[in-house]
Amino acid sequence: MRKYSLPPYKIKMVEPIELISREERIKKLKEAGYNPFRLRSEDVYIDLLTDSGTGAMSHFQWAALMQGDESYAGSKSFYRLEKVVKDITGYKYIMPAHQGRGAEQVVIPELVTKDNMYFISNIHFDTTRAHVEIAGARAIDCVIPECFNLKEYHPFKGNFDLVKLEEIILDKGQENIAGIIMTITNNSAGGQPVSIENMKAVYEIAKKHSITLLIDGARYAENAYYVKHREKGFENKTIREIAKEAFDLADIFLMSAKKDGLVNIGGIIAIKEDFELFQKCQTNIVPKEGFPTYGGLAGRDMDALAVGLGEALEESYLAYRIDEVKYLGDLLRDAGVPIQYPTGGHAVFVDCGEIAPHIPFNEFPAQAVSNALYIEGGIRPVEIGSLLLGRDPDTKENMKADKEFMRLTIPRRTYTMEHLRYVAESLIRVYNNRENIKGLKFTYESPILRHFTAEFEPAE
Ligand code: F0G
Repeated sequence: MRKYSLPPYKIKMVEPIELISREERIKKLKEAGYNPFRLRSEDVYIDLLTDSGTGAMSHFQWAALMQGDESYAGSKSFYRLEKVVKDITGYKYIMPAHQGRGAEQVVIPELVTKDNMYFISNIHFDTTRAHVEIAGARAIDCVIPECFNLKEYHPFKGNFDLVKLEEIILDKGQENIAGIIMTITNNSAGGQPVSIENMKAVYEIAKKHSITLLIDGARYAENAYYVKHREKGFENKTIREIAKEAFDLADIFLMSAKKDGLVNIGGIIAIKEDFELFQKCQTNIVPKEGFPTYGGLAGRDMDALAVGLGEALEESYLAYRIDEVKYLGDLLRDAGVPIQYPTGGHAVFVDCGEIAPHIPFNEFPAQAVSNALYIEGGIRPVEIGSLLLGRDPDTKENMKADKEFMRLTIPRRTYTMEHLRYVAESLIRVYNNRENIKGLKFTYESPILRHFTAEFEPAE
């Protein structure tokens, strides 16, 4: 048997990329204020900032674009998308959104019906947390502790801590819980999957306490692939069947379609059967995203998405996708580079707290390693650590993240294993020279979401 799956596609269109010289990279990074977010993509050789909207569409999707019906209301494109989403989820009410956070801003405020409410998630994604807070509620994370034990294998590190979940509900009062959000896969700690067994248990708890359960399913297809390969009893089920089982165990599905929708822009709101909630969301979507049958998308975007959703559920595609990430993770682990193990669906999370223990958290070790990797190989990763976390709103002090992660996020169907081998080789060289990596000090820091625009200089 092969160690890694084969790609089930060939390349028929290419986009040139260029590796600028080391001297130029040093200059560009300095001009960017030592913040990879501020680099121009033309100065990046391999862009691993995100897997969101960065993937390649198939020729079927490009063909579907041509069928786009650009009617404002009730377009054919919408009904094609609606049918696909209904088939996959079994849910009754479907609305498109321009992307994941668009879906969040329509639905989340409708669930926050009074003051002092809470959402509970395995881990809220940043924009989900932001929309919870904007709606006046608070976000509590409730993932199993094994999630942060990076070196230890666990098949479902995204699982909810069920004991803690019940405790939070009892402590806060079930009437004060606006919703439980099941993030699959669990992005923030390494694209880690959640088992169907855990979803079932969470759903039972939610129902017992009359709480709405939402799936934040940007990477639901990758999650289903893990269930098939790691959870007993699912070996012989199709990815579609497993995904359907997951949707049966929730009330609402929110999706950033820029991931497992295999499109460059798009989002989905799907509601299982609550007609009243659907009506409220229909009212809310108009001023925020657009008329309910386009939600911020062009007809052609909806057609590309209708096709992409089907392709992302194909097992041969998922096998290669998951193995590509694993391949990069294996090369790094074999060389001693500390990573979240096992690797997840969309990215390798590198533990920079361990790589650069000489850099204090408020000089941002993962940002420093990311910069070193850019200079070494023209590769752009993203920091998911104390820089992203920000400052305490009350004390204004820098908060310390549990883990100082550098995320190497793999766009779908975009890079080859050869590219990823180059990424591993570059990072291994950085790792072998890790004592020389220096921390960073702010020269500019914006009051919110500082990681996008901050500028730094190397600390002494
Ligand atoms: N939920 C999850 C789990 C996500 O990973 C994202 C986006 C969103 C919601 C928001 O969706 O970007 O379409 O508005 N994640 C990207 C990332 C940005 O890089 O991880 P969006």
